[in-house]
Formats: sequence, C-alpha cells, structure tokens
Amino acid sequence: MSDVFPVNGMDAVVFAVGNAKQAAHYYSTAFGMRLVAYKGPETGSRDEVAYVLTSGSARFELRGAVRAGTDIARHVTEHGDGVIDLAIEVPDVEAAYAHALAQGAKGLAEPYTLEDDHGKVVMAAIATYGETRHTLVDRSNYSGPYLPGYVAAEPIVAPPAVKNGRLFQAVDHCVGNVELGKMDEWVEFYKKVMGFTNMAEFIGDDIATEYSALMSKVVADGTRKVKFPLNEPAVAKKKSQIDEYLEFYGGPGVQHIALATNDILTTVDHMRAAGVQFLDTPDSYYDDPELRARIGEVRAPIEELKKRRILVDRDEDGYLLQIFTKPVQDRPTVFFELIERHGSLGFGKGNFKALFEAIEREQERRGNL
Ligand SMILES: [Fe+2]
Repeated sequence: MSDVFPVNGMDAVVFAVGNAKQAAHYYSTAFGMRLVAYKGPETGSRDEVAYVLTSGSARFELRGAVRAGTDIARHVTEHGDGVIDLAIEVPDVEAAYAHALAQGAKGLAEPYTLEDDHGKVVMAAIATYGETRHTLVDRSNYSGPYLPGYVAAEPIVAPPAVKNGRLFQAVDHCVGNVELGKMDEWVEFYKKVMGFTNMAEFIGDDIATEYSALMSKVVADGTRKVKFPLNEPAVAKKKSQIDEYLEFYGGPGVQHIALATNDILTTVDHMRAAGVQFLDTPDSYYDDPELRARIGEVRAPIEELKKRRILVDRDEDGYLLQIFTKPVQDRPTVFFELIERHGSLGFGKGNFKALFEAIEREQERRGNL
C-alpha cells in the first residue's frame, strides 16, 4: 500500500512557557540540550521570544510572551507551561495538508513559504486534540539554524561531560491525554488523516480499572519514526491521573515526551545531579522474583537499575529500560520519560502497575487523589 501521508520524522516539540529564558537554561543544564537558535525583540520579534535547543535529532522550541495580549501569553495563562505544537517533518507539505483536510482535519494555516539567505521552508498546520497543533514542515531546501526569522545562538553552558556531549539522541514518542470516551476518536483521526496504524500496545479495561485508571492506544506512521500514544481516563476507584491532568491543564494536551537515550544510567545520573526529580519506584519492584524472571538478562545489573529507579520491560522483540520524571512545571501536567530500547518496540506496559502506584503516591501528596 502506498503511504498516503509520508513523514520524515518529528521536526520539533514546541512549548509555550511563562519564562522562556529560564526554561532554556533548565533544558540546557538539566537535560544537556544545546541552544542553537533564538528570536526576540533584538531580532525584530516584538511580541515574543523563542529559544531553540537540540540534542541529537530532538529539537525543542521554547516560546514565551514579551507582553500581555498575545496568543502565547493567553495560552500560558490558561494552560500553564505546555506543548502547543508537535511539528512533523514531511517531504511534501502541500500534498500532506490537502490529504489531511480531505480526510476531515481542521486546517489552522494553509501552506506558506518562509525565505531568507539560508533558503526556504514550506509549512502548514492542522489542529489535533485540545489546543495542540501539528505544523507540517519541509525544510529540505533550508540550511539555517532553525527557521527564517531566527538567528544562530551560542550554547548557554558547556555540553554535559558524557560520550558525544548529549544525554539523549531523539524524541521516541509523544503522548496525548484526551477526555473520557475520546481516545478512539483520536485514534481514528490519526488513521484517517495521517494514515497511521495501531501499534500492538493497548491498555484496556483489565489494567485500567485495577491499577492505572487510564486506557491507552498507540498510533504510528509506517516507519515507526512518529509514535503517538493516546490516553483517556478510565473509571476507577480513585481519581485518574488523566483526570488530574485534564483539570490542571484545562483540557486535552500533551502528557509526556519520551526521549531516546543509548545510556540511560549515565543520563539519569546526570539529570538527577542537576536537580531533575524522577518518580520513585519501591524496592519491592526490584526484589520481586516475578520481575526477575520476566525480564531475564539485561545489559546492566539489576542493582544498578534499582539504585537509579530505572524500570525494565520485555516483550517478544527484546527489552527496554525506562524512567519517568515528575512534572517539570508548577502544574501537575507535562513530564518526560527516558527510554533505552534493546529491540522492544513497546512502551512499558509491564510497568504500568508499578508506575501508577508511584504516580498515585504523588497525586496523594498533591491532594488530588
Ligand atoms: Fe511513554
């Protein structure tokens, strides 16, 4: 079957934040990212500043308002710091946009071209859940640091003292939280509009009601470069972590961004030393003989994983190591995952129980359970 909506991969994760200057510092020092581009009043952007940081192929743009009354300012007022755009790189923006609209997507920006001395970039945008959008980007004829209108910027701090100077290499997946009963609608949206297909991972009633209080399905493009799990709250004994998110974010939005690392132990050590807080996993997780039998041999001794609270999951294709941060802004909304894959294409389904027990302890501390 021909690909109706070819994609090259994630282009950028775009955040609206209350203080982009300080956020850029946080992602530089704590996540080891490198500042590469900037726009602001000094470059002719009168209303907002934007800092662009990279780590391998992962790119974050942090946008902040310089004055009240702008869309970024309003977004931050309503939602707190959050993700406004999961930008996707595509080979043909016009074709992708036309296909998306023909399949029922809501257009937010018709295809347009931006140019400067470095070449040109074609972009368009469609709406997804909540106030989130997908900008479609073709930068194949562009050599500048990010987009026309941005200037190259020097790194804020020296790179982390690790191999290749980076703590992670790529965005692995981006998860959306949607309202009760809406998960399947958004799964259908990605199937119709982007030609994405379901991946095997599915968290249904069985896990949902007992432990996680959420239901989850994963859609991905044919090459598995762009993976979007979608969660909805499940009716459970206690308040769902998804309900907490929806309440504090003020609607659907991006819940977490998973970052692919090839050395999760070193990455966790660095981030923890820089003050990043991770979800705590109880000793019982590691001492459980069932877990040891289920995961078999992995590349690091289990004691090393236990020391860092790194989780393990295995499926028929291999295994993965993962860990989750606590929310990274004042509201209990967006957080990050670090993931090191060894063959497994999964998302850590086997860890849902341990994970959600840890999340519930945090919810309880916030008085939201
Ligand atoms: Fe994840």
